[in-house]
Amino acid sequence: MIYAGILAGGKGTRMGNVPMPKQFLHLNDKPIIVHTIEKFILNKRIDLIIVATPKEWVRHTKDTIEKYGLNLPIVKVIEGGADRNGTIMNIISNIEGIAPVDDNDIIITHDAVRPFLTHRIIEQNIEEGLLNDAVDTVISAVDTIVESTDGEYISSIPVRSHMYQGQTPQTFKITKLKELYNTLTEEEKEVLTDACKIFAIKGHQVKLVRGETFNIKVTTPYDLSVSNAILKGSMDK
Ligand code: CTP
Repeated sequence: MIYAGILAGGKGTRMGNVPMPKQFLHLNDKPIIVHTIEKFILNKRIDLIIVATPKEWVRHTKDTIEKYGLNLPIVKVIEGGADRNGTIMNIISNIEGIAPVDDNDIIITHDAVRPFLTHRIIEQNIEEGLLNDAVDTVISAVDTIVESTDGEYISSIPVRSHMYQGQTPQTFKITKLKELYNTLTEEEKEVLTDACKIFAIKGHQVKLVRGETFNIKVTTPYDLSVSNAILKGSMDK
């Protein structure tokens, strides 16, 4: 089975003073989360799309999904977790409650606030997710990456051609992700906020899929302006 997990369990604190978590803010004519869910509905290989939001926003999410005609049998809304990986684990528990999970089942996890992902990115995540235990979507770093462990002086400057910026989707064999996550200590869980990092740190391979520069994560008010420009650009074509 091929599952999609839409991660919408955050509160969007960096967006500043807005009336609702950023995933529910409008981009053009509809909420960001609706743009994102629509992209997954268009991929006919996905068996079930599980959207996880903060508990107090579950009702609102269900209403929004209905309002935009996305209340299909393949779309389900559940409560998210305390952190991003907690949200992924809630989605996996939910899947286990629906059907037995086998070793070939995959989950494509995606930030609800990255509404510009493409069909190609989803397809490649599925293809590589079926062949590998873990997949990350990345773009090449454009700027030189400078590392500073104290925030005052440079500690290293890695070779730029080896540097990438992580995006989502991230795709996993469900049983493998759960197995590795369950080996983490509470301290490790606090640090390993990126699910692919769990695989990397435990010595497992993570396959790369090419993302897109425009597959941005809406984080700050500035990103909302950029998103409107991206959307306008795609509609002008
Ligand atoms: N996320 C989630 N569950 C959490 C925390 C985050 O599903 N407990 C999701 C967010 O909803 C978002 C994605 O993970 O779609 C990326 O996280 P980020 O941009 O950091 O979102 P927030 O945590 O909402 O933002 P902020 O850090 O500004 O509060």
